[in-house]
Amino acid sequence: MSRIAYVNGSYVPHAEAGVHVEDRGYQFGDGVYEVCEVRGGHMVDERRHMARLVRSLGELRIRLPMSLAALGVVLRQTIARNRVRDGLVYLQVTRGVARRDHYFPDAATPPSLVVTARAIDPAKGEAVAGQGIAVITVPDNRWERVDIKTIGLLPNVLAKEAAKQAGAREAWFVDAAGHVTEGGSTNAWIVTPEGRLVTRPAESGILRGITRTVMLEVAEKLQLRVEERPFTVAEALAAREAFVTSATNFATPVVRIDGRDIGDGRPGPVARALRENFHRVAEIAR
Ligand code: PDD
Repeated sequence: MSRIAYVNGSYVPHAEAGVHVEDRGYQFGDGVYEVCEVRGGHMVDERRHMARLVRSLGELRIRLPMSLAALGVVLRQTIARNRVRDGLVYLQVTRGVARRDHYFPDAATPPSLVVTARAIDPAKGEAVAGQGIAVITVPDNRWERVDIKTIGLLPNVLAKEAAKQAGAREAWFVDAAGHVTEGGSTNAWIVTPEGRLVTRPAESGILRGITRTVMLEVAEKLQLRVEERPFTVAEALAAREAFVTSATNFATPVVRIDGRDIGDGRPGPVARALRENFHRVAEIAR
């Protein structure tokens, strides 16, 4: 079955889907995106993802290309037309097409909207989670507004590629104070030797992950002790467990950081419990 993409008002074969060369996303990385899990054909946490999209757009003064209701229809159509049961739906909004000029284009310039969807084999994610992943640490050289989910991801791309070259799957950014901020495409967590769950507050230095928000609720339901505070690399190395969260990873255990085993070097019970209970708390719109 051939894939279909939504591009600025039309559903087109994925292989032929394209945007204009003067799209500001292409020229300047002037846009934002969202990735939403699809489970059993339905979006997970759509409401929260849409709220974050609206916030990201507002921070960059980009218009919402259509009403949230209409956008919901496009997302559902794209999922359905690609027959995705388990996977993800991706959406990207840019400031639109205009002659290359750093200043914002005329206010009447319509924003561009692209939506794609694809299946992911759930067994693959389970296999990765069962093994746990390795991460490396890298200096956080990103701009300050990482709270905005912008498509300008070059530092993240470089960090994740460096991880791959080192035989790891994720890179953890470390700020000037030596605190872990977040992963290249995930939020970072540890479990202290005393059993406390620690993750950085979302006020600065990280994207407020939807999975992170929901996982805090899961942790409360499981009556885990949670501390929202920065943690250092040294603390992570001494942790009982570490893991990452994102829309397509849920909670995935981290078993090695910079080549050193975390805990006994195997996935731990807290990450497993959070992963298993995630979809009981997440909102799945039917
Ligand atoms: N990444 N931090 C960063 C830098 C991210 O890119 C992501 C998501 C997260 C986790 O956010 P959420 O729980 O809302 O997915 C944290 C997406 C999945 C991506 O870029 O593909």
